[in-house]
Amino acid sequence: MKIINKIAEMQQYSTLQRCEGKKIAVVPTMGFLHEGHLSLIDCARKEADIVIVTNFVNPTQFAPHEDLDTYPRNFEEDCKLCKERGTDIVFAPEADDMYCADRTTWVIEEKLSKHLCGLSRPVFFRGICTVVTKLFNITLPDIAVFGQKDAQQALIITRMVRDLNFPIEIIVAPLVREKDGLAMSSRNRYLNEGERHRGLVISRSLFRAEKMLVQNGIGRLGEVLSMIVDNISEAGGKIDYVEALDAATLEEPDENVKTLLLACAADFGKARLIDNVLVKIGE
Ligand code: PAF
Repeated sequence: MKIINKIAEMQQYSTLQRCEGKKIAVVPTMGFLHEGHLSLIDCARKEADIVIVTNFVNPTQFAPHEDLDTYPRNFEEDCKLCKERGTDIVFAPEADDMYCADRTTWVIEEKLSKHLCGLSRPVFFRGICTVVTKLFNITLPDIAVFGQKDAQQALIITRMVRDLNFPIEIIVAPLVREKDGLAMSSRNRYLNEGERHRGLVISRSLFRAEKMLVQNGIGRLGEVLSMIVDNISEAGGKIDYVEALDAATLEEPDENVKTLLLACAADFGKARLIDNVLVKIGE
């Protein structure tokens, strides 16, 4: 496995691989890898000849008051894990190389980004769309793998790739949970023991809601959402949102909805926890 830091070297490497007819998959990450990320690498490994994992804590997706400076990092351990899972290249650029000080260009998705995380984090998806576009232009992949854990991100990237005609297939790999149900996330590192235990209320409430919706349809959606809100609040979580939206459009669901995205975000201590389940309606 090779580590590449320079943008031009990364582009040259990928261009050469493409000329040799190799299929490239990229797994964009911000490092501090856990089993969720590694499952994305496994997925990429199955689909392509060359697997590139990008490791870059992207400053433009953090607002000034957010956790850019304290975001957990462990580059050495990340590289070890990448190697074990058969990664060919770790691309880890410097922020100053990625972003010119006088940059004036952004990539903005204007609809899906206005819901869920986008409401409380207004620059978040602009930063993500911009950096992912840059990473695509640098790593030149045929395939890119994202996780369902960040359901809204996956939907926005898929839309961006369609709208801007990137010749890239987006694969969305399943969300990976700890044994007790907690969705894996680098930010789980911020949780103390009590918060981690109380944070389990999120996945438990989502699973309970899923059962209720599968049994009863969306007729009593309000009650289901209130149940989740009450449970999380009682456990001391500070809720950002609890929503059930049409999974294809992120609009309010109507009677024709096929799949609901039941999603929530709540702070437990310093950790912002997000989680979601997809619920097939009327099956
Ligand atoms: O999901 C993430 O870790 C980040 O949002 C991404 C896609 C690597 C962009 O910085």
